[in-house]
Amino acid sequence: MKLQNILGISAGYHDAAATVINNRGDILFAGHSERYSKQKNDENFCRGLVDEVAEYGPETVAYYERPWVKQTRQWYAGQGIDWDKLTTKQILRKQLGGQIEPERVLSFNHHLSHAAAGFQTSPYTRATVVVIDAIGEWDTISIWGAEYDLKGAAKYTRLWRQRYPHSIGLFYSAITGRIGLRPLDEEYITMGMAAWGQPDYTNEISRLMTDNLHIGIDPGFLYDAKDADIAASAQVVVEHEIYKVMRRARDFGWSRNLVYMGGVALNCLANRNLGDYFENIWIMPCPGDAGSSLGAAALAYGRRIKWNNAYLGHDIGGEYPVDTIIDHLLRDKIVGVASGRAEFGPRALGNRSLLADPRGTDIKDQVNAIKRRQQFRPFAPVILEEHVDEYFDMPRGWSDSRYMQIVGVCRDPDLYPAIVHVDGTSRIQTVPPDGSGIRSLLEKWYALTGCPMLLNTSLNIRGEPMVNDRADADRFEQLYGVRVCS
Ligand SMILES: [Fe+2]
Repeated sequence: MKLQNILGISAGYHDAAATVINNRGDILFAGHSERYSKQKNDENFCRGLVDEVAEYGPETVAYYERPWVKQTRQWYAGQGIDWDKLTTKQILRKQLGGQIEPERVLSFNHHLSHAAAGFQTSPYTRATVVVIDAIGEWDTISIWGAEYDLKGAAKYTRLWRQRYPHSIGLFYSAITGRIGLRPLDEEYITMGMAAWGQPDYTNEISRLMTDNLHIGIDPGFLYDAKDADIAASAQVVVEHEIYKVMRRARDFGWSRNLVYMGGVALNCLANRNLGDYFENIWIMPCPGDAGSSLGAAALAYGRRIKWNNAYLGHDIGGEYPVDTIIDHLLRDKIVGVASGRAEFGPRALGNRSLLADPRGTDIKDQVNAIKRRQQFRPFAPVILEEHVDEYFDMPRGWSDSRYMQIVGVCRDPDLYPAIVHVDGTSRIQTVPPDGSGIRSLLEKWYALTGCPMLLNTSLNIRGEPMVNDRADADRFEQLYGVRVCS
């Protein structure tokens, strides 16, 4: 049978991404436009990404939302109508520049694309799917019952929805804007800042939840408050709202398996309590809109997707350079790695990472000197999965955290200050025996040092997205004088 490749696209608004799957459910490619164009959260496709996906000769293109329906909401919201983005074909013509001419073009509901990216990559045959984001066409929260029928076709029943303007994601983005950070980009910094503040303003901030926050928050709101206190209060409010949704989702009684998607699913502080509502939890490593490129492709395909890992982007090739990395770690304590395929999703998981020995008190400052980022932000540990309980208290319902979806509490924070936040938590990546390069590296590091973990932060030049190809890695080496192994 002829292979019919499907190209899923999320583009035109923020963080454009592409996924290619074949008609056996294998993911052939998944990557972000920003890594090629070097524009953080690039909303449009760029030449490098289109060239990469064109090689797969996709016959079908699936778009992650319904442009016309979205335009009705934008019109309703007073944003006017964008006449260049009224139809999927218009958008694809702009994004693909005529370089890819598919036989078939499909488009799917925004929240359904999120749901499919989660459910069809999850290990479950039946699950409750919760999607929480800023906004799709009209929906801002949705709850789905998902299952496969006897023929293996994925079926979705929408159990509940919340519509614009009430939105947890817009709320959190507006708070991010209020404290001087970039909305729809730096929400993770707001989350990191929360641990430094006191939640003294939860009453004032929870009242905002009923406002339409699409245009942001009045800059005079809580004028005298410290940013960290606003962040801490917003975290309390956002968690309260998320758990209300989780309770509602659980009470439908559809399944004890939770698939959780949408940009809000990246809030790893809130995620630590999901085990109070569900027995098993799957959060795809790219739960935001970029992941919906995979979701749209999954809907066009209609069945379970074969999910192995998140290394799905540009391929630098070569063997994972375990021995060279170890040599540099032992000598310099810090080393970069750019090897194999780039990660799909916002986290570096070992293929585009800056790694360091997590032991000792001076390593955080050394890594910070390279990353030049806010001193209050912690770095994350990557650890052999079978050792995670010796070093961290994992939250209920989580025996692993393979894509850094949650925080745990470090048992010996004094020994590993570089990877522990001021509130005692760490955003953990656990690595199972999966044959990955980072797994071999950790095994060898453990055998040599008795320490089963490393500090892991994304390999990027300041202000730029993660390193993608070897040329980016070379630039990194020259700028910072840190070896990047391939
Ligand atoms: Fe979304």
